[in-house]
Amino acid sequence: MENVIELKHPLIQHKISRLRDKNTGTNEFRSLIEEIAMLMGFEALSDLPLHDVEVETPIETCMTPVVEGRNLAVVPILRAGLGMVNGLLALVPTAKVGHIGLYRDEETHEPHEYYCKLPKPIDERLIVVTDPMLATGGSAVAAVDFIKQHGGKKIKFMSIIAAPEGIKRLHEAHPDVQLYVGHIDRQLNENAYICPGLGDAGDRIFGTK
Ligand code: PRP
Ligand code: URA
Repeated sequence: MENVIELKHPLIQHKISRLRDKNTGTNEFRSLIEEIAMLMGFEALSDLPLHDVEVETPIETCMTPVVEGRNLAVVPILRAGLGMVNGLLALVPTAKVGHIGLYRDEETHEPHEYYCKLPKPIDERLIVVTDPMLATGGSAVAAVDFIKQHGGKKIKFMSIIAAPEGIKRLHEAHPDVQLYVGHIDRQLNENAYICPGLGDAGDRIFGTK
């Protein structure tokens, strides 16, 4: 599927296996989410624009490329997407950070918004939305809807584990959004949890189970 990029790097796959293990504790889980986000970010940000600046080396003055980090907006979907932010900020420390608060209704599994704050001017930025889990795709579609309503144009979505159902829903609603996934899992269960998945990402990151 065009615009859906599954990252098959062995280090990402290894770390996802550690995430899946129910015996992996909160501390390690949090570190792994951050590390995977950084490894995925290396690929997802491979088309970041560069511009030349003048630098004086110990030998001579030269023109050399730097990224325009301030033009990047990392937008986590609360709560679990927060766990991925520091991995991306390690790559681009000058990036701005927005937040979208969504939770899934336990019965209907549909997302509800409770917070939205995006760095301005959002229309001029490359926006990377983060959420470790893409299940039904309801939260992802709602988040991209909000960002577009606020004027966002160039949007990428990073998800560590995705179900085929969520990928399809996001891709159909927003075919222009580039989706980077660490692993595409088998399916959703009757509670809209990803199988085999890793359980509830927010609870495992924040130790709230
Ligand atoms: C989880 C996850 C995604 C969403 C994915 O969040 O972090 O945001 O579910 O499911 P979907 O693709 O079916 O919408 P949750 O609503 O549990 O909130 P939390 O991060 O605060 O725990
Ligand atoms: N949200 C999660 O945290 N895990 C799932 O498997 C599905 C939605």
